[in-house]
Amino acid sequence: MNHLPSVFIHNGILTIKNESYKKEQIQEELQHLKAFRKGPYQINEVYIPSQWNSFIKWEYFIPIYKDYLKNKIKDLYKKNHLLKILDVGANNGYYSFLMYYQLKNDHLNSDFYLIDPTLDFYLQFEFLKKYFPKEDQIHWNYDRIGWQEIHLESFFDVIFCMGILYHHSDPYALLKKMHFLLKPGGVLILETITINHSDYPVCLVPEKKYAGSSGIWFIPNKKAVMNFLRRANFKEILFHNERFILDEMKQNDYLPSLEENLSKDHTATIEGYPIPYRSFFTAVK
Ligand SMILES: C[S@@+](CC[C@H](N)C(=O)[O-])C[C@H]1O[C@@H](n2cnc3c(N)ncnc32)[C@H](O)[C@@H]1O
Repeated sequence: MNHLPSVFIHNGILTIKNESYKKEQIQEELQHLKAFRKGPYQINEVYIPSQWNSFIKWEYFIPIYKDYLKNKIKDLYKKNHLLKILDVGANNGYYSFLMYYQLKNDHLNSDFYLIDPTLDFYLQFEFLKKYFPKEDQIHWNYDRIGWQEIHLESFFDVIFCMGILYHHSDPYALLKKMHFLLKPGGVLILETITINHSDYPVCLVPEKKYAGSSGIWFIPNKKAVMNFLRRANFKEILFHNERFILDEMKQNDYLPSLEENLSKDHTATIEGYPIPYRSFFTAVK
């Protein structure tokens, strides 16, 4: 008799045991997918490496959840006994999976809405999803759209907007959209690259690339992020933590490493700009 699938974290690896699937079958399917950016995962005995060690970001998020967010979420939960959660730029679903199980552990039912326009990440999500228990899968809806295309006013209790802000040329449009989508009292979890530079609220505007990446428009310091949030009409704006991101980048042979894009002593990017940090903020509508 098959046991029900189980999901847990082991040594920072999101691990799924599902006896209905054979190793060869999993490996065959994996060959048709691009390299994973978020992870790593393990399905039965098959290890799936990833560019980022995504569990590290989660470890910075969990104290925010336990010390602050959980109480806020419980208040929101009292209204409908179902949380509607949006994950903007969900990639292959890594943080939605972890958050869904965290809430389930705390006896909070949730429906997750994952959005990301990139086909490769959607295919990875579809590949991963089927190994999870069926009763959980039905709570995850994935749309291959960008945040610009979602128009559900006052719909979500919680929005995760992680690793997105600096990739967009109009940060206000993004934050105003997050505000529009949240219910009154709903919470935004904003995580973004920041620079630890200047006592003024300032943004770095790279000429072409930042740490080797061309899709980066503004890198704010934390005071600038707080002002972005204020001017997008959020309240209860909190800065939670900031860290240098190098540890999160796993060295592997198929994707470029952040380390190659920093000076040898890690005090500047190869373009000569201040180094990247990652910071967590929360804000309420
Ligand atoms: C740096 S990754 C962040 C992934 C994940 N949220 C995290 O924190 O690790 C940025 C993600 O945003 C997605 N993306 C790009 N344009 C987007 C848009 N207009 N709306 C939503 N997501 C977008 C990319 O496909 C990618 O998965």
